[in-house]
Amino acid sequence: MEEARYDLVLRGGRVATAAGCCEADIAISGEVIVALGRDLPAGRSELDVRGRIVTPGGVDPHCHIEQLAASGLRNADTFETATRAALAGGTTTVIPFAAQHVGMSLAEVVADYHARARRGAMADYAFHLILADPRPEVLREELPALAREGHGSLKLFMTYDRLRVDDEQLLDVLWTARGLGLMVCVHAENHGMIRFMGRRLVEAGYTAPRYHVPSHPRLGEAEAIGRLAALSALVDQPVMVFHVSTREGVAAVQRARGEGVKMFAETCTQYLLLTSEALDRPGIEGAMWICSPPLREPADREALWWGLEIGALQCVSSDHAPYRMDASGKLARGPEPSFREIANGMPGIELRLPLLFDAMVSRGRLGLERFVELTATAPARIYDLFPKKGTIAPGADADLVVWDAQRSVRIEQGPRYDNAGYTPYAGFEIRGFPELVLRRGEVVAENGVVLAQPGSGRFLPRGGGQAARPRGLPAPEFDPARNFGARLEPR
Ligand code: URP
Ligand code: ZN
Ligand code: ZN
Repeated sequence: MEEARYDLVLRGGRVATAAGCCEADIAISGEVIVALGRDLPAGRSELDVRGRIVTPGGVDPHCHIEQLAASGLRNADTFETATRAALAGGTTTVIPFAAQHVGMSLAEVVADYHARARRGAMADYAFHLILADPRPEVLREELPALAREGHGSLKLFMTYDRLRVDDEQLLDVLWTARGLGLMVCVHAENHGMIRFMGRRLVEAGYTAPRYHVPSHPRLGEAEAIGRLAALSALVDQPVMVFHVSTREGVAAVQRARGEGVKMFAETCTQYLLLTSEALDRPGIEGAMWICSPPLREPADREALWWGLEIGALQCVSSDHAPYRMDASGKLARGPEPSFREIANGMPGIELRLPLLFDAMVSRGRLGLERFVELTATAPARIYDLFPKKGTIAPGADADLVVWDAQRSVRIEQGPRYDNAGYTPYAGFEIRGFPELVLRRGEVVAENGVVLAQPGSGRFLPRGGGQAARPRGLPAPEFDPARNFGARLEPR
């Protein structure tokens, strides 16, 4: 008998990519897709997926895992718990953070997060390197070495007391990133406005969770994005604006892009599906929905959907940042903290894909191809993981989600795979859920039961993706005439 040509064939599914959908068989050998087509020869194993939608595994480009916050709190998840949750929901690749704090060696920080991920990760992973202390030796020595080891992106904060960089530091980092071809992701909110509003609200007795929302003025997001655009333009360095939450924020991104600034932007599941009303719950309950930027208003939600529609925003991440509703997390500063004392963030890595599948595919908003693009293909492209990740094509890793598009699920309150102990989406009724999840050709989740082993996820070395495209740029050394058009006169 003729030996089977493939290890595994997924037979007859509706295969969805960002470029279109078709009925096809998917053949896998080892860890990669080797053929797509009709009536492919038999594999050693076969999965009948007729009547099912097959998408690429999700790429979550912004999630906080086992991360040490500047407050000293480590968030609730380990790499094991967070990536188990990711796989259950169809996300096979994650980009969490290696977070430097002031005074720390960046190289040591990265080694620490590598060790944690090697121990626990079940999804494949890369890191964004958070720079809270971009002192000269970090930029001159540590960062180039880390770039050579395959770290392709950074994150900076324009707010948060012990994390933020000022405009001059931001420019220093942008300039260094340009020389190394790295993407720079930015938390863009105006620090002074947040401090001013937070202090005044608390002084006036407005301490409940709901006052977190006005403490991050919507104007502050647009201002910071506009300032970031100017800084990015000065040094001609691409930037990614993380977690855009407001209509004004979308407009600021669109304006910058229209003016030719190399600006990318994302929003997150929670800003598309929830509003600030969630924080109005009695007592401390609203703390479950405290994240930064805060949840906004129905009109913002609509503006964000429109921003996705017109391409002003290119991806949807989870910004998974889990803290438990107890003294280890949200209530670490006491049982009745003011909103300023409550850890920021909410869980979302598990339900990002099912919630967005429901909104975009089952309810028809944007459709299946855009769902794939926004949750897998675009993040893979922007962060230099494409075409290994983010698509279904010969040569790509066989990371696949087989969807039961008819399955209805009511999301109940209570623990899920992650370690937050609650979900912000309790009561949501969604249609469509992952039936099978494959990571590099192996079935790692079946109907929500995760089969992968801790530590089986793999580090993904990469360059700077769309930040590193050849642009015919002048040399990265500082040259005021060549880089900035300065006319140099004899002194
Ligand atoms: O509230 C959030 N999103 N916390 C995580 C940290 C951040 O700013 O992304
Ligand atoms: Zn942020
Ligand atoms: Zn974040």
